[in-house]
Amino acid sequence: MTILGIEQITYGVTDLETCRRFFADWGMKEVAHDETRARFETLNGCTVLVADASDPSLPVAFEAGPTLREVTWGVAAREELDVLRERLKGQPGYYANDEAVGCYDPAGMAIRVEVTRRREIDVKGSPSNVWGQTLRVDQPSPIYERAEPVEVGHVVFFTNCLAEQEAFYHDLLGFETSDRYPNRGAFMRCAPHGGHHDLFLLALPDGKKGLNHVAFTVRDIHEVFGGGLHISRCGWTTQLGPGRHPVSSAYFWYFKNPAGALIEYYADEDVLTPEWQPRDFEPGPTVFAEWAVDGGLDGNTRRQKNAQAPEGKFMTERKQ
Ligand SMILES: [Fe+2]
Repeated sequence: MTILGIEQITYGVTDLETCRRFFADWGMKEVAHDETRARFETLNGCTVLVADASDPSLPVAFEAGPTLREVTWGVAAREELDVLRERLKGQPGYYANDEAVGCYDPAGMAIRVEVTRRREIDVKGSPSNVWGQTLRVDQPSPIYERAEPVEVGHVVFFTNCLAEQEAFYHDLLGFETSDRYPNRGAFMRCAPHGGHHDLFLLALPDGKKGLNHVAFTVRDIHEVFGGGLHISRCGWTTQLGPGRHPVSSAYFWYFKNPAGALIEYYADEDVLTPEWQPRDFEPGPTVFAEWAVDGGLDGNTRRQKNAQAPEGKFMTERKQ
């Protein structure tokens, strides 16, 4: 039994129309909507369901306000659901039917597992020409006017029961821990071979639990920057970025999400195998971000916030 990744993210929100506008700007395709909910897709068919927080069909919220209400994980085949039916039996909120099996995790986040509906797609990022390896020849690298996320890549929770959470995802769902902040955080991937983390669990000193962010994978670093500039032009607020994480090596840009907490574009994360040895890190600002732009870039001037917009055809024409 191997979890393949995130199938669906379900938000319970207090301002559906604003969230619909946000996810359209974010680069998602709206595939259905009515007065109480809207469904969006990434390029590979991962879905984001945005529903009115008062919708009685949503699982119980694990914190107040607009937030994540459920994470749906995918498996390859129905037989794998049978394995999970046995393993998850007895967990709080357990249910199983022909389509899915689900329960609440130890922190109270609803999880659901289904056979994947994600599509194989022919989408490739632009390779970088690095010293010793030139993979891009006679081919400029792209400039993106906006992002089109490929998939939902990972989710990050604040947890009040880190050890129980890590054991739940490892023992019952088969996740591996890629790296740790000892007693404070665990970066976990769904399978021994895969991207650095599909789930990151972080324990805060005050014991608060809740959503930290949901991250969307884009093709390459240029799409992180082009997507972020577009979101900035649309008037949404940067929390931090662009920047780069030392743990996972990924480039990131975080925005405030009207559907709850933060949302991230990222690209170029480490890919791990069973050979990988988990590392321990001491938490700190330089471990979270090797570097980052505080407040983001202005999507119109394409400079840091409050910088003078360029004028003239060449930088040398700027008035002194
Ligand atoms: Fe992230």
